[in-house]
Formats: sequence, C-alpha cells, structure tokens
Amino acid sequence: MTVNGAGVTASVEPRTHLADFLRESMLLTGTHLGCEHGVCGACTVLIDGAPARACIAFAAACDGVFVTTIEGLEDDPVMARLRAAFTAEHALQCGYCTPGMLVTARDIVLRLPDADEARVRLELAGNLCRCTGYVGIVRAILRVLAEAPAPDVVAPQPLPRATFALPVAEPVVPVLPGGEVLAQRLRIAAPLAAVWAAVQNPALIAECVPGARLTLQDGPNIAGDLALALGPMKARFAGRAEVTFGPGHLAQVRGEGRDALSGTRLTADATVALQADRDATVMELQVRYSLRGPLAQFARSAVVAAFAAEIAETVGKNLAARLTGTAPPVARRMGLGRLVLSVVRRWLFSLLS
Ligand code: FES
Ligand code: FES
Repeated sequence: MTVNGAGVTASVEPRTHLADFLRESMLLTGTHLGCEHGVCGACTVLIDGAPARACIAFAAACDGVFVTTIEGLEDDPVMARLRAAFTAEHALQCGYCTPGMLVTARDIVLRLPDADEARVRLELAGNLCRCTGYVGIVRAILRVLAEAPAPDVVAPQPLPRATFALPVAEPVVPVLPGGEVLAQRLRIAAPLAAVWAAVQNPALIAECVPGARLTLQDGPNIAGDLALALGPMKARFAGRAEVTFGPGHLAQVRGEGRDALSGTRLTADATVALQADRDATVMELQVRYSLRGPLAQFARSAVVAAFAAEIAETVGKNLAARLTGTAPPVARRMGLGRLVLSVVRRWLFSLLS
C-alpha cells in the first residue's frame, strides 16, 4: 500500500487491523484508538481519499490502497485552516478525538461547502468527543466553511497508482521505511573460505553470538531467540528470519522479533559482505533496524552503536576461535560502566579522526 505518499510492503497477520499496523509498524501514532469497533471515530484516516475507520479495516485488505493519516495532512492547506480554527474555537481539550475529528472535518469542508450547523452535526455523528461538548468543534468547522475557499483547495483524489510501484521482490518480513542504520567492520583471524562457510551455517553463527539460541532451521528460514542484558535492563527477543546468499560472498538476513517482557518489537535487515585480507577476513556488516515499543527509546543513541560494537567484537573473536580451534574468549557481561566507557571512547575516536 501507499501510506502518506510512500510505498510500503509488509507481511501482516490476517487479523491485524489497519490502525495497529499504522501505529505499531509504521509508528504513525497520530491515528488514535478508542473503541476499536468502529463507533468512536478516533481512528479515522483517509483510504483512497475517503474517511474510513482504521480499526475495522484489516491491513491485509488494504493491499494496493492509498492511506493518508493525520501526519500525511501536515502540509494540507485545508488542514492548516482547520488547525487554526480548532485552536481559536477551543475545539479540543484532551485531544484524544482530535486527529479523527480533523480528518472528518476536512472531509466535510471539501465535500459540503454549503453545510449549515445541523448538517455539520449530522456529519460529525460518527466522531465521539468525551470532553468538549462539540460546541467548539462545530464552531471551528463552520468558521472554516465561512471563509472563502483557499485557491489551492482541491477535493481529495486518490493518487495515481502507477506512481508508487511496489518493489517486485516482496520480502517475507516487513521492511520499514526509515529505521536506524548500524555499520560494523570486523577483522576475523581466519581465511575467507572458512569464514564464508561459517556464515552459511546459522547454527555455528548462533553459537558465537552471546545469548543467541537457534530453535529452527528450515532452508532459508530460521527461528530462535536472543537474550540481551544491558546493566539492569534485560530483554529476550524471540523471532524468525530469512537468510539468503548472493554472489561475491554476500549474505542478507531479514528478521523480526519480539521481547515478551516489554512487548518491544525489533525488525532488522542485515547485509554481510566478506573480503579476504591476507590470511584473515574482513567482515562488513550493515544493519537497518527499527525498534517499536518501550525499548525504542534506546534505538537512536550512541548506546546502541556501542552495544552493537561490543557484541560484534565478541562474535568476531568467538568465530575466529571456532575456526582456528583455539579457546573462545570468556564472555563478558555488558555493564553500564563499561558501556559508558565504550561510548566515550567511540566519541573521542570520531572527534580525533
Ligand atoms: S477506534 Fe476506530 S472507531 Fe473507535
Ligand atoms: S477533546 Fe478529549 S475526547 Fe475530544
């Protein structure tokens, strides 16, 4: 589907409704959920230009449609006038109903330029507000209707579908727009052929990742879990991934997981490229990842980069030890003190560079 002008490809559970998909997978939390059964209107979005309840539309049924959320109307001229009118008329109190109210209000303004108060109230009947008593909301809409229409106001049109052709190869797990990118370079003290053979052996790699456990391997599909501990913070992500191999010692891993304790979801797409460096191997690792949920607050910081660098370093040493038959290094727990030191060290290094 196309969401706010950007093509999105994802595989979803049949029961996932559009509002959950928008909020949890795309982090478009402007779409609110009130009743979740089509009554309150808090979840109203535009589907192919028309207002619709995102809580009773299955995401899978929206295959190929154009969805516009409140975030996608940021620069919309009618919405700009409505926002100003809602402010002037005190048309919100807690604001919970407001995104749905605004989407519906915009539709009224565009579709019914001659609407009077009775018609506005009738049209708003599908949007419930528990705070305002509706008086301010109705006044705000009437205020915009009374203004001369802006010259750039156009009725909502579905966008031409061909403009946003989706990629031909559909991934098995969601590929989210945006996300954070992490790059790691690792030198492994083992020859290229041996490291490449190891990369194609998920069971061996899992043994080298501290806290990782492989529970299923079926062709390119793997499943397992990964326990992480960062100071007092602990998480165990259980999930699945697809591993594919390309020419030129390239591997790609796409996966998703969920921490049962915090409910945080992780989606990642990693590329591994190997290159010989005399009798050693250089591994370039690039990961695009997205965290949704309580632990997402850690997604953007130098903390994650330092944490990932530590894990990558350990994996590299474990792998080299396995391939050369030497004793693996003793696994060290990532304490907060060590993490802070690592962040400062990386920051100083980049500054001096
Ligand atoms: S949450 Fe969708 S109508 Fe109430
Ligand atoms: S402003 Fe609170 S529900 Fe409408």
